[in-house]
Amino acid sequence: MLSAGGYLPADLVTNEELARRYGLDTSDEWIQERTGIRQRHLAAPGETASSMGIKAARQALERAGVDAAEVDAVIVATATPDSSFPATAVRIQAGLGITRGFAFDLLAACTGFIYALSVADAMIRTGQCRTALVIGAETYSRILDWTDRTTCVLFGDGAGAVVLRAEEGEAGILSSHIHADGRHGGILHVEGGPGSTGGTGLLRMAGREVFKHAVTKLASAVDEALTANGLERGDVNWLVPHQANIRIIEAMGKKLHLAPERVITTVQRHANTSAASIPLAMAEAVGEGRFQPGDLLLLEAIGGGLTWGATLLRW
Ligand code: COA
Repeated sequence: MLSAGGYLPADLVTNEELARRYGLDTSDEWIQERTGIRQRHLAAPGETASSMGIKAARQALERAGVDAAEVDAVIVATATPDSSFPATAVRIQAGLGITRGFAFDLLAACTGFIYALSVADAMIRTGQCRTALVIGAETYSRILDWTDRTTCVLFGDGAGAVVLRAEEGEAGILSSHIHADGRHGGILHVEGGPGSTGGTGLLRMAGREVFKHAVTKLASAVDEALTANGLERGDVNWLVPHQANIRIIEAMGKKLHLAPERVITTVQRHANTSAASIPLAMAEAVGEGRFQPGDLLLLEAIGGGLTWGATLLRW
């Protein structure tokens, strides 16, 4: 992995402002206490997964010192594409002026970025591409029920991107471990959609149920990734978790015996940006120069499906 970039929409909305704007019976105190979230960014009219993804990708390419013309694969994890097709990835490819290689979207909800990394890594290893842009880009504000205080306070919009390249050496993805169990689809899903009701549909979640699955499934994915590489918890330098809830993030940090400053957290400022949350967190950490060559990074996520997984990578 060469570098990471991110983009957040300009409209920064605090909990108090959100409650005022949408007439919600909630409070800053309730939201912060249960989730850690203080604010989120919301896309402006006309701003989409592709327009934000292009900006995140440009920053990632610039930081990596890679020209867009060198990219031969664009993989976008999103549950909120601009439209059913062309794929958001193809729109981003065009926006960056790339005319070769391939581009496609991948949907695994909040686990989308881990799935996309897994696919990109496999394609690089099998020689199907050499330089890949892997992007998470979401506009959940468009699929939220703004009258449902149990879900609409939890999410935000944004995009993050990383550049992967086939290279010899120690650095790079060690392995990814992805899972799905559709029996639990009903506890976090979008009701309706382009192929059923014709609209975008609205997000529904049984928060408590998701919370229970999150703690156990993330822990098992993390153990699976470490065991597969003959590594131990103490070997991990940085945890870059999906940013849904500070309590889940802190529980995972404790499980790995990591000092709080070794756990990248953005949920307080970004809320849950689904597939964009991990690459956005990576982009911030890269901007602050936190990752050093040789550092071991552990990425993990769980989301609708249910889907979950973990990636271990050497910076
Ligand atoms: N403001 C104020 N009160 C709210 C509220 C809000 N925004 N949302 C819910 N409440 C109320 C509920 O109505 C309920 O009231 P009642 O006891 O009178 O019925 C009470 O708060 C507790 O609701 P509950 O849903 O049981 O809260 P919780 O402690 O489980 O916290 C979540 C809710 C969503 C924060 C928590 O379940 C969670 O984080 N789950 C995991 C979600 C997640 O990570 N999802 C993404 C995975 S990708």
